[in-house]
This record gives sequence, structure tokens and C-alpha cells, in this order.
Amino acid sequence: MVDLSVKLVGNIVLKNPIVIASGIPGTNALKMFVEKGVGAVTTKTVTPEPRRGHPPPNIIRLPYGFINAIGLRNPGIEGFIPELRELVEVARSHGSIVIGSVGAGTVEGYVNVSSRLEENGVDMVELNVSCPTAKDVYSVGMDLKYLVEVVRETKSVLKIPVAVKLTPSYVDMGKVARLVVDAGADVLAAVNTVAPATSLDINTGRPLLGNPEGFGGLSGPAIKPIAIAKVMEIALEVNVPVIGTGGIMDWRDAVEMILAGASAVGVLSAYFTRGFSFIDDILNGLSKYMVEKDYKSIEDFRGKALEYIKKE
Ligand SMILES: Cc1cc2nc3c(=O)[nH]c(=O)nc-3n(C[C@H](O)[C@H](O)[C@H](O)COP(=O)(O)O)c2cc1C
Repeated sequence: MVDLSVKLVGNIVLKNPIVIASGIPGTNALKMFVEKGVGAVTTKTVTPEPRRGHPPPNIIRLPYGFINAIGLRNPGIEGFIPELRELVEVARSHGSIVIGSVGAGTVEGYVNVSSRLEENGVDMVELNVSCPTAKDVYSVGMDLKYLVEVVRETKSVLKIPVAVKLTPSYVDMGKVARLVVDAGADVLAAVNTVAPATSLDINTGRPLLGNPEGFGGLSGPAIKPIAIAKVMEIALEVNVPVIGTGGIMDWRDAVEMILAGASAVGVLSAYFTRGFSFIDDILNGLSKYMVEKDYKSIEDFRGKALEYIKKE
């Protein structure tokens, strides 16, 4: 028998390494994911006030993934709390973890939304400082001093663990990971979408996305090689759990991400292309792989790829 559970941080234990990454609005689909047995679900990023996001078309399907410019459309923290409480209840009864994703343009915004999420039952917050189509949120991640302040202040008021979701745009991922962990981050989630990305209508010449900039963030299979490398850069530098996210579509991708150093795998685009079927694929494939390799737990092969990397 193999053990798919992951002791993430503190008393957070994932019953398996599948974490639904932030991006699904509302809580209906998240409840279904919980019922289907995933280890954790992450809420769509919640902001202090409601946001309308960008006009459609705001997600473009390509043969190798998606470009989105949703722009953090959400009902704001107070509007979200009633549904969040229901989600937390369903998750508790199924032994799944709820991660509350937070986005804001100010330190107070991160602190207040995080506190409200904690008061209403989430197991961990994830600071989204990397959404490329919400300028205020993205600029927090780009200003490293400000980023450190956001992490430190949020950490100082919360009892539950704090994760930070990083953009793959950092040239020196290891350095940023070190800064964020030194500021108090308990967990890192990497990566958010790769940006800027766009796609043009060759008849009109216009960008297909409806937002004024015409740029969005790329997700899905196209970004997996980048996500794997960024997770390796993080894992070579810091020793905190990483939720490895980006282009995980099946069990082989999940194995690769764990070999890169991730403790859990974040998945979103696979849901848009495969519905819920990726869950059994990943869980069954992972179990079979582990039996074949004689690995008893995820920890037995996590980060194995790092042994082959020679740091200069
Ligand atoms: C439609 C869509 C909406 C997203 N919304 C959020 C969000 O609200 N907050 C966030 O941190 N990441 C968001 N993301 C990024 C995903 O959580 C994830 O980091 C990225 O899509 C890469 O994973 P994937 O290839 O499995 O989709 C969104 C991605 C997509 C495609």
C-alpha cells in the first residue's frame, strides 16, 4: 500500500497531493472537487471590495493551453463569506483542506481579507501577488520591499499558515523565494500564469482578449516546462513546501512536479479541458508509479531531480 498523504505544514495534512489552484469562481465546483476527493481546494482570489474584472472575451483556448484576462472578478470578501462557510463545512466533512486566496493593492487589504478568511474557517491563506491582469496585485509582487512587508504583516496577525503565490516572471526565482520565506511564508505556490501572453485575430489584427491591454496570462501544457524549472529553482534555495502549479494535466505531469521538489500539485487548466477526470488519473497513476518504484510515500521521491543539478 502506498501513502498519498502529504504533511504540508503545521497540522495541515493533505489526504493526497492534488490542490485545485485558484481561479474557479464561486464555490459550487469547489464543493464538487471536495466530494470527488481532492486534497485541497483554493478559492478564487478574493479582494477587499467586489471587482468586475475585464470584459469578455476573457479566456482564449489554444491547442497548448489558455490565455486569460479575467482580472480577479469576485464578489469581495464580505460578499464571499456566506458561500465560503458552506464550502468549509463540506470540506471538513470530507477531510479536504480549504485555502483562501487573497489579492489586494495595499498591506491593509491583504491583512484584513486574510483575517476575515481565517475567522471564517479557511485552513491556510494564499497571498496572490502575481495575477498579471490585476495591476495593483501584480505590482505588489514586483516591488520586493513591498512584497516582504505584505508577507510579514499578514503573517504577524494570522494563526494559520500563510502561502505566497509567485509569478514565473522573476529572473532569480530562488532569491525571491528566499526573501519571502525569510519574511515568514510557510508555503510557496508556484507558478501563476506566464505573462504577458496574447493571441491575435488574423482577419482584423485585433487581440482576441477583450481587456484594454489585450494581454493576459498563459496556463496549461505550454507552461509546464517553465513551472517545473521554477519549482526546481525554489526547491534548490529554500526548504518550505511548494505547491507546484502549471500545466499539470495527468499523473505523469504530477510525478514530474514532485520529482522537481513540489510537495503537492496545483491544477486548474486540466479541469477546463478534462473536467473532473484528471483526479482519478492522477491518483491512480501516482499510486501505480509508486508501487512500481517501491516508493511508500510522496516524500520518498520528492525532489529527486535536484540531486542531478549542479549549482554554479
Ligand atoms: C481562468 C483562470 C483564472 C485564474 N484565476 C486566478 C486567481 O484568481 N488567483 C490566482 O492566484 N491564480 C489564478 N489563476 C492561475 C492558476 O491558479 C494557475 O496558477 C495557472 O493557471 C497555472 O496552472 P494550470 O496550468 O494548471 O492552469 C487563474 C488561471 C486561469 C486559467
